[in-house]
Amino acid sequence: MTQRAQTVLLTGATGYIGSRLNEHLLSRTGTTLRVFVRNRRKLRDSIREQVEVAEGDTFDLKALSQALQGVDTAYYLIHSMRAGKDYEDRDRRSAENFRDACIQAGVKRLVYLGGLGVKATASRHLLSRIETGEILSARPKQLQTIWFRAGVIIGSGSASFEIIRNLVQKLPLVITPKWVGTLTQPIAVDDVVSYLSQALDAEIQDSVMVDIGSRAMSFREMLLKAARLMGLKRVLIPVPLLSPRLSSYWLTLFTPVPYQMAAALIEGLKSETIVQNNQAQTCFPQISPVSYEQAVQTALIELENDAVLSRWCDSSGGQVCDIKDQADTTAAVLRDRREFPLDSLSRETVFQSLTSLGGESGWFAYNILWQLRGVIDKLLGGYGLNRGRRENKALRLGDALDFWKVVDIKPQKRLLLLAQMKVPGKAWLEFDLQEDTLVQTAHFHPRGLLGRLYWYAVLPLHLFVFGGLGRKILKQAAALERQGLASHPPIGD
Ligand SMILES: NC(=O)c1ccc[n+]([C@@H]2O[C@H](COP(=O)([O-])OP(=O)(O)OC[C@H]3O[C@@H](n4cnc5c(N)ncnc54)[C@H](OP(=O)(O)O)[C@@H]3O)[C@@H](O)[C@H]2O)c1
Repeated sequence: MTQRAQTVLLTGATGYIGSRLNEHLLSRTGTTLRVFVRNRRKLRDSIREQVEVAEGDTFDLKALSQALQGVDTAYYLIHSMRAGKDYEDRDRRSAENFRDACIQAGVKRLVYLGGLGVKATASRHLLSRIETGEILSARPKQLQTIWFRAGVIIGSGSASFEIIRNLVQKLPLVITPKWVGTLTQPIAVDDVVSYLSQALDAEIQDSVMVDIGSRAMSFREMLLKAARLMGLKRVLIPVPLLSPRLSSYWLTLFTPVPYQMAAALIEGLKSETIVQNNQAQTCFPQISPVSYEQAVQTALIELENDAVLSRWCDSSGGQVCDIKDQADTTAAVLRDRREFPLDSLSRETVFQSLTSLGGESGWFAYNILWQLRGVIDKLLGGYGLNRGRRENKALRLGDALDFWKVVDIKPQKRLLLLAQMKVPGKAWLEFDLQEDTLVQTAHFHPRGLLGRLYWYAVLPLHLFVFGGLGRKILKQAAALERQGLASHPPIGD
């Protein structure tokens, strides 16, 4: 397939699939790549330098129209699943806006990735994905659409893989509800990216729906195969009567996904998601999807090598970008501020130490209290500590870090975390590296009386948790200096 020179607009470039496709498209020659993002700061520096950036969202018609000028092919990799109760309506309007703006701008081809499944048995989320595809492809004479449909996507950081990995790792005995027997056709994230990128040059005349996937298998089979690949022996105990609601709580507790997402995934797994056409072989015969086992192995290797490019929790999942206007803590009215003298420690090492917080390293001091807070958060339907971190050493803007989100990071100067835990108010944790002091501040903007009661109730715990945290960060920095390890880059790229 010859690569045609063209201008490409990529939406969803800060999301799980979009950021991987972005990386891939950069290696194409003759392609002018423009990304349409809600906040340019969420793009990595190295990406920002190589692409044209158009800022806006799909509800901003002017921004959309500007971003689509001169574009040949546009990717639509957006959804609003976690943006509240009216997400179907948002997705409908978003797709209509995008399609109409593409037609107006003279875009030749629109590429969309939705989910596998049929309308009659589709879950609410899947129905919305199908509806989005129908809206995008509703004007075939004016705009050609290549509509890919994928089932479970397996890759480091994908929600499905994280669920499988966590269940297998944490539970020697896995109780399996009825839905684990449903058939789906998993596909490796790299194969998804190949299909999407090769859609740029595919010799296709009309609009087409392309179902993609590897061999059909059940979720049960996926669990057992993953366990074997991880060198673990696991016993599955069928409990057919476990209701979807109980299953969702069960997934929420043992995996990183929050309740709402677990419920949507389970709802989706209640009916088969099987390839319905052979357009993948007809239009893309050069791509042979790798097996599920190969996909799991690649994901495990990426995890082991700290080479996870994107995660399911990178995107905001909200109505607005999650890092936009979040770096200003002046709205807080309650604070816990502590100063820790650096003594002779360098700011580089202290920054390195504090950016290695969370995930498998834990929270350095009184970990048990952090874990307890994580469990409470999980029980309330939040993320808990299970999200961990994308990689062990480096952090980048927009990274999820247990129940926090990195909303500002300035090398050797500042790390600001926004709480995404269930809390009656808005909370930040800030580390400010001054000339010879580490200033650590917990900021809180309480919501009503409950918020204030919460703050004062946990105040005694802050004494231990926050007092110990700063001290331990410096202690670990001293250890790093002793070991001469202060050269790792604390900012990921
Ligand atoms: N991931 C999977 O396992 C999977 C499986 C099958 C199909 N798919 C399909 O693949 C597509 C991409 O999914 P994903 O998992 O990559 O999603 P994701 O990680 O949740 O990312 C969503 C992206 O959309 C952006 N976005 C959301 N609303 C927007 C708006 N109104 N205007 C502009 N940008 C907006 C987000 O930006 P912010 O960073 O600002 O939030 C983010 O970049 C979806 O259509 C999905 O149905 C995914």
